[in-house]
Amino acid sequence: MATDEWNGDKRSIEELIADYQPGYSMEQRFYKDPEIYKREIQNIFLKHWVLAGHVSQIPNSGDYFLFEMDKESVIVIRTRDGEVKAHLNVCRHRGSHICLEKEGNAKLLTCPYHAWSFDLDGNLVAARLMGEDFDKSQNGLHPARVELVGGLILVSLSENPPSLEAMRKDLADVFETFGFDKMKLAASKTFPIAANWKLAVENYQECYHCTPSHQEYAKVHALALAPEKFSGLKKDFLETNDGSIRLGESNCYFDLAKPGDEGYQYGRNPLLRGMKSGSLGGEAVAPLLGKIRDYDGGASEFMVGPLSFFLIYNDHMVGYRFVPNAHDRCSCDVFWFVRDDAVEGKDYDLEKLTWLWDITTQSDEEIIVNNQRGVDSHFYQPGRLSEMEHFEQSFLNWYLAALKG
Ligand code: FES
Ligand SMILES: [Fe+2]
Repeated sequence: MATDEWNGDKRSIEELIADYQPGYSMEQRFYKDPEIYKREIQNIFLKHWVLAGHVSQIPNSGDYFLFEMDKESVIVIRTRDGEVKAHLNVCRHRGSHICLEKEGNAKLLTCPYHAWSFDLDGNLVAARLMGEDFDKSQNGLHPARVELVGGLILVSLSENPPSLEAMRKDLADVFETFGFDKMKLAASKTFPIAANWKLAVENYQECYHCTPSHQEYAKVHALALAPEKFSGLKKDFLETNDGSIRLGESNCYFDLAKPGDEGYQYGRNPLLRGMKSGSLGGEAVAPLLGKIRDYDGGASEFMVGPLSFFLIYNDHMVGYRFVPNAHDRCSCDVFWFVRDDAVEGKDYDLEKLTWLWDITTQSDEEIIVNNQRGVDSHFYQPGRLSEMEHFEQSFLNWYLAALKG
């Protein structure tokens, strides 16, 4: 892009990073410059762990779905041995995408171009007319790294991704309490967003916007309250809670993660008094998760890596994944999880289950797009952050360090 685009600003990315003023939002170029986006691909998207999906999407051998981010397409598949693997959807012949449907079942992964065929483990098993000297064993599909957290499938495109071990150890009791290995995906929805991915992640980091922008959310969640009101409610919540669901926070997210570890965070906060779950009127909408015996008026947050976030109510979990598609567009994929033996129509109603975060994400999409439109203006300049935006500051600190590399 010509430098005229930035009104003659010829600063390098390093200079832009060094010029960032803590306590403020970032300069326009971070949200518009394709050169910066290119560096984000290398330094962020191809390095970290991202939520690809859930094991309940691929119960049988050969079941697969595609996870797509920026230019990358990954086949997440159940092998004959029942393992979950991930292969880059790039044929080793001349590079065609192999799976073209978003999900399906396959006995072999056969490229639609010249019919090279790969088994479910990614090994090349058939390639016509390639001559005696052609070594099929050297032409398997490129693997992507996969780790399961309960039934959540995390994927990394790095050969040497950050470690999830610290998180696994620290949060083992949390995963057990909420029954992370005993959930199923009940619904999912993609919200395309005409904005840079960082505006979407930043929006998710702060609840300064919750009261003005999310009436429905603010009727259930205490986090929408002003800080002094929230602290009073949180103090009562902590004093009266029996602690059977972990209350203690683990803040190893973004700039607080140890070098070599993937960032993660866990915390539990009160809902407004009398609310049980994230729904219309705060009503319960599904059977209690895992080992939870009752509603304690709280909800937990969990995040892993820079793009995947979860809100865990006592009866269901909502996952949010922010996926960059290009420098000026991204999407928010929302996933609703319930316990794996819950029956739709009997134990939960899909409309009631998904109502709050469907309506809230629709308004988030609107807010984020409006934000981008203003940031695109010649008159945009970084603005001061409020005290309710400290998580956003943490994200910005981490982001700038990651971009620097
Ligand atoms: S590109 Fe896949 S078989 Fe030729
Ligand atoms: Fe929001």
